[in-house]
Amino acid sequence: MKAMQFHSSGGPEVLQLADLPIPEPGQGQVLIRVEAVGVNFIEIYFRKGIYKTSLPATPGSEAAGTIEELGPGVTGFAVGDAVVSTSVIGSYAEYALVPAAQLIRIPPAVTMEQAAAVMLQGMTAHYLAFSTWPLKAGESALVHAGAGGVGLLLTQIAARIGARVIATVSTPAKAELARQAGASDVILYTEKDFAEEVRRLTGGKGVDVVYDSVGKTTFDKSLSCLRPRGLLALFGASSGPVPLFDLIQLSSKGSLFITRPTLWHYIASRAELEWRAGQVLNWVASGELHLRMEHSYPLAEAAQAQIDIEERKTTGKVLLVP
Ligand SMILES: NC(=O)c1ccc[n+]([C@@H]2O[C@H](COP(=O)([O-])OP(=O)(O)OC[C@H]3O[C@@H](n4cnc5c(N)ncnc54)[C@H](OP(=O)(O)O)[C@@H]3O)[C@@H](O)[C@H]2O)c1
Repeated sequence: MKAMQFHSSGGPEVLQLADLPIPEPGQGQVLIRVEAVGVNFIEIYFRKGIYKTSLPATPGSEAAGTIEELGPGVTGFAVGDAVVSTSVIGSYAEYALVPAAQLIRIPPAVTMEQAAAVMLQGMTAHYLAFSTWPLKAGESALVHAGAGGVGLLLTQIAARIGARVIATVSTPAKAELARQAGASDVILYTEKDFAEEVRRLTGGKGVDVVYDSVGKTTFDKSLSCLRPRGLLALFGASSGPVPLFDLIQLSSKGSLFITRPTLWHYIASRAELEWRAGQVLNWVASGELHLRMEHSYPLAEAAQAQIDIEERKTTGKVLLVP
Protein backbone atom coordinates (compact mmCIF):
# COMPACT_ATOMS: atom_id res chain seq x y z
CA MET A 1 0.00 0.00 0.00
CA LYS A 2 0.97 3.64 -0.37
CA ALA A 3 1.54 5.54 2.87
CA MET A 4 3.29 8.74 3.92
CA GLN A 5 6.27 8.27 6.23
CA PHE A 6 8.91 10.34 7.95
CA HIS A 7 12.23 8.95 9.18
CA SER A 8 13.42 12.04 11.05
CA SER A 9 11.75 15.14 12.43
CA GLY A 10 11.95 18.37 10.42
CA GLY A 11 10.25 20.44 7.73
CA PRO A 12 7.54 19.22 5.37
CA GLU A 13 10.23 17.69 3.09
CA VAL A 14 10.73 14.82 5.59
CA LEU A 15 7.28 13.49 4.56
CA GLN A 16 7.82 10.89 1.82
CA LEU A 17 5.48 8.55 -0.02
CA ALA A 18 6.43 4.92 0.76
CA ASP A 19 5.36 1.41 -0.27
CA LEU A 20 4.53 -0.50 2.91
CA PRO A 21 2.90 -3.86 3.59
CA ILE A 22 -0.81 -3.74 4.46
CA PRO A 23 -0.88 -4.17 8.28
CA GLU A 24 -2.53 -7.18 9.98
CA PRO A 25 -5.17 -6.39 12.61
CA GLY A 26 -4.17 -7.57 16.10
CA GLN A 27 -6.37 -8.31 19.13
CA GLY A 28 -9.24 -5.79 19.30
CA GLN A 29 -8.20 -4.01 16.08
CA VAL A 30 -9.79 -3.66 12.67
CA LEU A 31 -8.18 -2.96 9.29
CA ILE A 32 -9.87 -0.18 7.31
CA ARG A 33 -9.48 0.84 3.67
CA VAL A 34 -9.00 4.57 4.09
CA GLU A 35 -11.26 6.75 1.95
CA ALA A 36 -10.78 10.19 3.52
CA VAL A 37 -8.09 11.40 5.92
CA GLY A 38 -8.58 14.32 8.29
CA VAL A 39 -5.45 16.47 8.50
CA ASN A 40 -4.90 18.13 11.87
CA PHE A 41 -2.45 20.68 13.22
CA ILE A 42 -1.11 18.16 15.76
CA GLU A 43 0.57 16.24 12.92
CA ILE A 44 2.77 19.29 12.32
CA TYR A 45 3.91 19.23 15.98
CA PHE A 46 4.78 15.50 15.60
CA ARG A 47 6.60 16.05 12.30
CA LYS A 48 8.66 18.86 13.79
CA GLY A 49 9.53 16.79 16.86
CA ILE A 50 7.73 19.13 19.30
CA TYR A 51 5.66 16.06 20.26
CA LYS A 52 7.65 12.82 20.33
CA THR A 53 6.90 9.67 18.32
CA SER A 54 8.93 6.57 17.44
CA LEU A 55 10.46 6.71 13.96
CA PRO A 56 9.88 5.94 11.14
CA ALA A 57 6.27 7.03 11.54
CA THR A 58 3.18 7.37 9.39
CA PRO A 59 1.35 10.54 10.47
CA GLY A 60 -2.33 10.98 11.14
CA SER A 61 -4.99 9.79 13.56
CA GLU A 62 -8.25 10.72 11.82
CA ALA A 63 -9.84 8.86 8.91
CA ALA A 64 -13.06 7.47 7.53
CA GLY A 65 -13.16 4.25 5.54
CA THR A 66 -14.55 0.77 5.06
CA ILE A 67 -13.75 -2.19 7.29
CA GLU A 68 -11.62 -4.74 5.36
CA GLU A 69 -10.81 -7.20 8.14
CA LEU A 70 -11.63 -7.78 11.81
CA GLY A 71 -8.89 -8.76 14.26
CA PRO A 72 -9.41 -11.37 17.00
CA GLY A 73 -11.94 -10.44 19.69
CA VAL A 74 -13.72 -7.71 17.70
CA THR A 75 -17.50 -7.77 18.01
CA GLY A 76 -20.18 -5.29 16.99
CA PHE A 77 -18.61 -4.46 13.60
CA ALA A 78 -18.61 -6.28 10.26
CA VAL A 79 -16.50 -6.24 7.10
CA GLY A 80 -17.90 -3.56 4.79
CA ASP A 81 -19.07 -1.21 7.57
CA ALA A 82 -18.46 2.50 6.96
CA VAL A 83 -16.58 3.79 10.01
CA VAL A 84 -14.66 6.80 11.28
CA SER A 85 -12.17 7.33 14.09
CA THR A 86 -9.76 9.83 15.62
CA SER A 87 -7.54 7.01 16.92
CA VAL A 88 -6.29 5.58 13.63
CA ILE A 89 -2.72 4.28 13.82
CA GLY A 90 -1.18 6.23 10.92
CA SER A 91 -4.10 7.53 8.85
CA TYR A 92 -2.01 9.07 6.00
CA ALA A 93 -2.21 5.72 4.17
CA GLU A 94 -4.38 3.57 1.91
CA TYR A 95 -5.00 1.08 4.74
CA ALA A 96 -4.71 1.53 8.51
CA LEU A 97 -5.42 -0.19 11.81
CA VAL A 98 -7.85 1.18 14.39
CA PRO A 99 -8.70 -0.10 17.89
CA ALA A 100 -12.34 -1.23 17.58
CA ALA A 101 -13.11 0.50 20.90
CA GLN A 102 -12.41 3.82 19.17
CA LEU A 103 -14.50 3.21 16.03
CA ILE A 104 -17.78 4.93 15.26
CA ARG A 105 -20.19 3.81 12.55
CA ILE A 106 -20.98 6.56 10.00
CA PRO A 107 -24.70 7.37 9.70
CA PRO A 108 -26.06 6.73 6.15
CA ALA A 109 -26.71 10.44 5.51
CA VAL A 110 -23.06 11.38 6.16
CA THR A 111 -20.35 10.95 3.50
CA MET A 112 -16.85 9.58 4.18
CA GLU A 113 -15.40 13.06 3.57
CA GLN A 114 -17.84 14.70 5.97
CA ALA A 115 -17.15 12.09 8.65
CA ALA A 116 -13.38 12.51 8.35
CA ALA A 117 -13.84 16.28 8.36
CA VAL A 118 -15.92 16.56 11.50
CA MET A 119 -14.74 13.92 13.95
CA LEU A 120 -11.68 15.44 15.57
CA GLN A 121 -12.39 19.13 15.21
CA GLY A 122 -16.12 18.65 15.84
CA MET A 123 -15.65 16.65 19.04
CA THR A 124 -13.06 19.22 20.13
CA ALA A 125 -15.54 22.06 19.62
CA HIS A 126 -18.15 19.93 21.40
CA TYR A 127 -16.13 19.32 24.55
CA LEU A 128 -14.95 22.95 24.70
CA ALA A 129 -18.52 24.29 24.50
CA PHE A 130 -20.31 21.63 26.58
CA SER A 131 -17.75 20.38 29.09
CA THR A 132 -14.64 22.56 29.53
CA TRP A 133 -16.83 25.63 29.98
CA PRO A 134 -20.49 24.61 29.63
CA LEU A 135 -21.63 27.67 27.70
CA LYS A 136 -25.04 29.13 28.44
CA ALA A 137 -27.27 31.41 26.40
CA GLY A 138 -26.32 35.03 27.02
CA GLU A 139 -22.69 34.27 27.90
CA SER A 140 -19.85 35.59 25.77
CA ALA A 141 -16.90 33.71 24.27
CA LEU A 142 -13.78 34.81 22.45
CA VAL A 143 -12.82 32.25 19.77
CA HIS A 144 -9.33 32.71 18.31
CA ALA A 145 -8.64 31.57 14.72
CA GLY A 146 -12.38 31.70 14.16
CA ALA A 147 -12.19 30.65 10.48
CA GLY A 148 -9.99 27.61 11.19
CA GLY A 149 -11.10 24.02 11.42
CA VAL A 150 -12.05 24.01 15.10
CA GLY A 151 -12.87 27.72 15.01
CA LEU A 152 -15.72 27.52 12.50
CA LEU A 153 -17.32 24.56 14.29
CA LEU A 154 -16.91 26.03 17.78
CA THR A 155 -18.40 29.33 16.60
CA GLN A 156 -21.43 27.55 15.12
CA ILE A 157 -22.00 25.45 18.26
CA ALA A 158 -21.55 28.39 20.65
CA ALA A 159 -23.88 30.60 18.59
CA ARG A 160 -26.50 27.84 18.53
CA ILE A 161 -26.36 27.63 22.32
CA GLY A 162 -27.17 31.34 22.32
CA ALA A 163 -23.78 32.63 23.41
CA ARG A 164 -22.28 35.76 21.93
CA VAL A 165 -19.16 34.87 19.92
CA ILE A 166 -16.36 37.33 19.28
CA ALA A 167 -13.90 35.76 16.82
CA THR A 168 -10.37 36.68 15.81
CA VAL A 169 -8.97 36.04 12.31
CA SER A 170 -6.07 37.29 10.17
CA THR A 171 -7.82 38.40 6.96
CA PRO A 172 -11.09 40.06 5.85
CA ALA A 173 -12.00 36.93 3.84
CA LYS A 174 -11.67 34.82 6.99
CA ALA A 175 -13.70 37.43 8.91
CA GLU A 176 -16.58 36.87 6.51
CA LEU A 177 -16.48 33.10 7.14
CA ALA A 178 -16.46 33.59 10.91
CA ARG A 179 -19.47 35.92 10.60
CA GLN A 180 -21.34 33.39 8.47
CA ALA A 181 -20.64 30.78 11.18
CA GLY A 182 -22.38 32.98 13.74
CA ALA A 183 -19.77 35.33 15.22
CA SER A 184 -21.43 38.62 16.10
CA ASP A 185 -18.11 40.48 16.10
CA VAL A 186 -14.85 39.67 14.35
CA ILE A 187 -11.47 41.20 15.13
CA LEU A 188 -8.51 41.22 12.71
CA TYR A 189 -5.96 40.37 15.40
CA THR A 190 -3.08 40.91 12.98
CA GLU A 191 -4.08 44.58 12.71
CA LYS A 192 -5.81 45.50 15.96
CA ASP A 193 -5.12 44.97 19.67
CA PHE A 194 -7.72 42.28 20.27
CA ALA A 195 -7.75 42.74 24.07
CA GLU A 196 -8.66 46.42 23.69
CA GLU A 197 -11.32 45.51 21.13
CA VAL A 198 -12.86 42.85 23.39
CA ARG A 199 -13.01 45.33 26.29
CA ARG A 200 -14.66 47.87 24.01
CA LEU A 201 -17.16 45.34 22.62
CA THR A 202 -18.14 44.13 26.10
CA GLY A 203 -18.43 47.60 27.66
CA GLY A 204 -15.27 47.01 29.71
CA LYS A 205 -16.58 43.82 31.31
CA GLY A 206 -14.65 41.12 29.44
CA VAL A 207 -15.83 37.75 28.16
CA ASP A 208 -16.77 34.68 30.20
CA VAL A 209 -14.44 32.32 28.35
CA VAL A 210 -11.58 32.53 25.87
CA TYR A 211 -10.94 29.54 23.60
CA ASP A 212 -7.30 29.99 22.59
CA SER A 213 -5.67 27.58 20.12
CA VAL A 214 -3.05 30.06 18.94
CA GLY A 215 -0.85 30.11 22.06
CA LYS A 216 2.37 32.08 22.02
CA THR A 217 1.14 35.24 20.25
CA THR A 218 -2.27 35.47 21.97
CA PHE A 219 -1.89 33.99 25.47
CA ASP A 220 -1.10 37.12 27.52
CA LYS A 221 -3.77 39.26 25.94
CA SER A 222 -6.28 36.43 26.12
CA LEU A 223 -6.04 36.69 29.91
CA SER A 224 -6.74 40.41 29.65
CA CYS A 225 -10.00 39.69 27.78
CA LEU A 226 -11.63 37.80 30.66
CA ARG A 227 -14.11 38.99 33.24
CA PRO A 228 -13.22 38.17 36.86
CA ARG A 229 -13.38 34.38 37.47
CA GLY A 230 -13.52 33.72 33.71
CA LEU A 231 -11.76 30.78 32.07
CA LEU A 232 -8.98 30.60 29.52
CA ALA A 233 -9.15 27.27 27.67
CA LEU A 234 -5.73 27.05 26.02
CA PHE A 235 -6.16 24.13 23.65
CA GLY A 236 -3.47 24.62 21.03
CA ALA A 237 -0.24 26.35 20.05
CA SER A 238 -0.57 27.17 16.35
CA SER A 239 1.83 30.13 16.76
CA GLY A 240 4.17 28.27 19.13
CA PRO A 241 4.18 27.15 22.76
CA VAL A 242 3.35 29.57 25.56
CA PRO A 243 6.42 30.55 27.63
CA LEU A 244 6.64 29.82 31.36
CA PHE A 245 4.04 31.75 33.28
CA ASP A 246 3.77 33.14 36.82
CA LEU A 247 0.47 31.97 38.34
CA ILE A 248 0.18 35.17 40.43
CA GLN A 249 -1.08 36.84 37.23
CA LEU A 250 -4.29 34.83 37.56
CA SER A 251 -4.94 36.55 40.85
CA SER A 252 -4.11 40.09 39.73
CA LYS A 253 -6.16 39.76 36.53
CA GLY A 254 -9.32 38.69 38.36
CA SER A 255 -9.07 35.25 40.05
CA LEU A 256 -8.99 33.67 36.61
CA PHE A 257 -8.95 29.98 35.69
CA ILE A 258 -6.76 28.33 33.07
CA THR A 259 -7.03 24.85 31.64
CA ARG A 260 -4.93 23.09 28.98
CA PRO A 261 -7.37 20.43 27.76
CA THR A 262 -6.92 17.71 25.17
CA LEU A 263 -9.62 15.78 23.31
CA TRP A 264 -8.39 12.40 24.51
CA HIS A 265 -9.46 13.07 28.13
CA TYR A 266 -12.94 14.10 26.95
CA ILE A 267 -13.58 10.89 24.96
CA ALA A 268 -11.86 8.50 27.37
CA SER A 269 -14.97 6.39 28.00
CA ARG A 270 -16.98 4.67 25.26
CA ALA A 271 -20.11 6.48 26.48
CA GLU A 272 -18.50 9.92 26.15
CA LEU A 273 -17.04 9.09 22.72
CA GLU A 274 -20.44 7.88 21.46
CA TRP A 275 -22.19 10.95 22.88
CA ARG A 276 -19.86 13.50 21.28
CA ALA A 277 -19.39 11.65 17.97
CA GLY A 278 -23.10 10.87 17.74
CA GLN A 279 -24.09 14.50 18.24
CA VAL A 280 -21.64 15.99 15.76
CA LEU A 281 -22.35 13.37 13.06
CA ASN A 282 -26.10 13.84 13.51
CA TRP A 283 -25.75 17.63 13.27
CA VAL A 284 -23.89 17.14 9.98
CA ALA A 285 -26.61 14.79 8.73
CA SER A 286 -29.36 17.26 9.66
CA GLY A 287 -27.51 20.23 8.21
CA GLU A 288 -27.35 21.96 11.63
CA LEU A 289 -23.56 21.92 11.49
CA HIS A 290 -22.08 23.25 8.27
CA LEU A 291 -18.71 21.84 7.20
CA ARG A 292 -16.29 23.83 5.12
CA MET A 293 -14.25 21.34 3.07
CA GLU A 294 -12.49 23.47 0.46
CA HIS A 295 -9.04 21.92 0.86
CA SER A 296 -8.66 18.37 -0.42
CA TYR A 297 -5.32 16.87 -1.53
CA PRO A 298 -4.16 13.52 -2.93
CA LEU A 299 -2.33 11.41 -0.31
CA ALA A 300 1.01 12.03 -2.07
CA GLU A 301 0.60 15.80 -1.48
CA ALA A 302 0.34 15.54 2.30
CA ALA A 303 3.40 17.77 2.72
CA GLN A 304 1.68 20.54 0.73
CA ALA A 305 -1.43 20.17 2.89
CA GLN A 306 0.66 20.70 6.03
CA ILE A 307 2.51 23.66 4.46
CA ASP A 308 -0.81 25.33 3.63
CA ILE A 309 -2.09 24.87 7.20
CA GLU A 310 1.14 26.23 8.68
CA GLU A 311 1.11 29.21 6.32
CA ARG A 312 -2.48 30.05 7.41
CA LYS A 313 -3.78 29.51 3.86
CA THR A 314 -6.57 27.12 4.83
CA THR A 315 -10.03 27.64 6.30
CA GLY A 316 -12.23 24.91 7.74
CA LYS A 317 -11.14 21.31 7.20
CA VAL A 318 -8.17 19.94 5.27
CA LEU A 319 -8.57 16.42 3.84
CA LEU A 320 -6.35 13.89 2.05
CA VAL A 321 -8.01 11.48 -0.33
CA PRO A 322 -5.97 8.30 -0.96
N1 LIG B 1 -6.40 20.26 22.58
C1 LIG B 1 -7.21 19.67 21.73
O1 LIG B 1 -8.03 18.83 22.11
C2 LIG B 1 -7.15 20.05 20.29
C3 LIG B 1 -7.91 19.39 19.34
C4 LIG B 1 -7.91 19.84 18.02
C5 LIG B 1 -7.08 20.90 17.65
N2 LIG B 1 -6.31 21.48 18.61
C6 LIG B 1 -5.45 22.63 18.28
O2 LIG B 1 -6.29 23.66 17.82
C7 LIG B 1 -5.60 24.46 16.86
C8 LIG B 1 -6.46 24.58 15.64
O3 LIG B 1 -6.46 23.35 14.95
P1 LIG B 1 -7.10 23.24 13.52
O4 LIG B 1 -6.75 21.90 12.99
O5 LIG B 1 -8.52 23.63 13.59
O6 LIG B 1 -6.24 24.31 12.70
P2 LIG B 1 -6.73 25.67 12.04
O7 LIG B 1 -7.43 26.48 13.06
O8 LIG B 1 -7.48 25.33 10.81
O9 LIG B 1 -5.37 26.34 11.62
C9 LIG B 1 -4.63 27.12 12.52
C10 LIG B 1 -5.03 28.60 12.45
O10 LIG B 1 -4.37 29.24 13.50
C11 LIG B 1 -4.19 30.60 13.17
N3 LIG B 1 -2.81 31.02 13.48
C12 LIG B 1 -2.49 32.07 14.26
N4 LIG B 1 -1.17 32.23 14.32
C13 LIG B 1 -0.63 31.27 13.56
C14 LIG B 1 0.71 30.95 13.20
N5 LIG B 1 1.77 31.65 13.67
N6 LIG B 1 0.92 29.90 12.39
C15 LIG B 1 -0.10 29.18 11.91
N7 LIG B 1 -1.41 29.44 12.21
C16 LIG B 1 -1.67 30.49 13.02
C17 LIG B 1 -4.48 30.72 11.67
O11 LIG B 1 -5.73 31.40 11.53
P3 LIG B 1 -5.67 33.00 11.21
O12 LIG B 1 -4.98 33.10 9.88
O13 LIG B 1 -7.07 33.44 11.17
O14 LIG B 1 -4.87 33.60 12.32
C18 LIG B 1 -4.59 29.30 11.19
O15 LIG B 1 -5.46 29.16 10.11
C19 LIG B 1 -4.23 23.80 16.66
O16 LIG B 1 -3.31 24.46 17.47
C20 LIG B 1 -4.47 22.39 17.16
O17 LIG B 1 -3.29 21.77 17.60
C21 LIG B 1 -6.32 21.08 19.89
